[in-house]
Amino acid sequence: EKGGYDYFMLKEIAEQPQAIADTLLGRLSERGDIVLDEVRLTDQDLRDVDKVFIVACGTAYHAGMVAKYAIEHWTRIPCEVELASEFRYRDPVLDRSTLVVAVSQSGETMDTLMALRHAKQQKARVLAICNTNGSTIPRESDAVLYTHGGPEIAVASTKAFLTQLVACYLIGLHLAQVRGVMYADEVAAVVSRLRRTPDALRELLGKMEDVRALARDLKSSSTVLFIGRHVGYPVALEGALKLKELAYMHAEGFAAGELKHGPIALIDKGTPVVCVVPSPAGRGVMRDKVVSNIQEVRARGARTIVIAEQGDDGVVAYADHLIEVPRTPTLLAPLMTTVPLQILACEIAAARGHDVDQPRNLAKSVTVE
Ligand code: M6R
Repeated sequence: EKGGYDYFMLKEIAEQPQAIADTLLGRLSERGDIVLDEVRLTDQDLRDVDKVFIVACGTAYHAGMVAKYAIEHWTRIPCEVELASEFRYRDPVLDRSTLVVAVSQSGETMDTLMALRHAKQQKARVLAICNTNGSTIPRESDAVLYTHGGPEIAVASTKAFLTQLVACYLIGLHLAQVRGVMYADEVAAVVSRLRRTPDALRELLGKMEDVRALARDLKSSSTVLFIGRHVGYPVALEGALKLKELAYMHAEGFAAGELKHGPIALIDKGTPVVCVVPSPAGRGVMRDKVVSNIQEVRARGARTIVIAEQGDDGVVAYADHLIEVPRTPTLLAPLMTTVPLQILACEIAAARGHDVDQPRNLAKSVTVE
């Protein structure tokens, strides 16, 4: 049942290229229209949207954070992402022209469901991104885009995360097209890059031996810090979450630019810092800023584990350990950069003798508030 893998988590990590391909399959017409599975939203409803809220928990929340960058960039609609457990308690401003996107693998997360119900009471439109057919969240939403990740058994979410990203990208592109902000050929150009990600990911998955060795090295660290900028920031948070939940180690993710406002004081001799470097293509300035953050932590004794694009030779001098990922457009990069962090957490947890698939104190689906 684990298909030859030691853990469901490793099997599910390996299934990610296929999960992405399946989630893309048949979803976009040449005109850039996406096929929503259950739709009670018209194109006119989508044209009327003047604000997007994404609500989710845990890993799904990190997918929402990435989505915010893509949705705002492509659609120019303001987009907020919020922890579902916080959303309704602060009386958010919602009305008919607000689109609330509820992201949930299980479709049964109570915090997300309660946020969705609150949004509906306030007359907002609700769109679910969900991996579980017929579950409560999609049933109560106005429209659904299912992720086709297949069943996810391990408590730690992996393939669900990548497919949630794909679904968010599709929704962003569709909104941009329906509202006339992007032309069909622009949408098609992004989609063609998306279609290439499964092969790129297969290539990356084939080169993860080093990460396994690194995991053995890091298993006794008292803390691991993660830094990133732009879409690399949620990736840093996701890397830290995985390590906490599986390895029971202290781990924290930071926006790289925030280091100097406090967290850099944590850096001591040998502190491992995982650095997610943006692609040098497109936003070179951002990449250079992260590289100088890497130099700063290194100067204070950090041991740097650098995740950078293939061919970004400028980072080599600052990396105690370099993990190269295939070239990908900036907004799509989390589909690559997250994967070594999943494997790192899984391998550290295994090296520490933990039950990777069933970490202590956690349930796969959190049906209490
Ligand atoms: O089923 P959901 O996507 O709504 O679950 C949300 C979180 O509970 C979930 O992503 C959790 O954070 C994972 N265990 C993280 O790996």
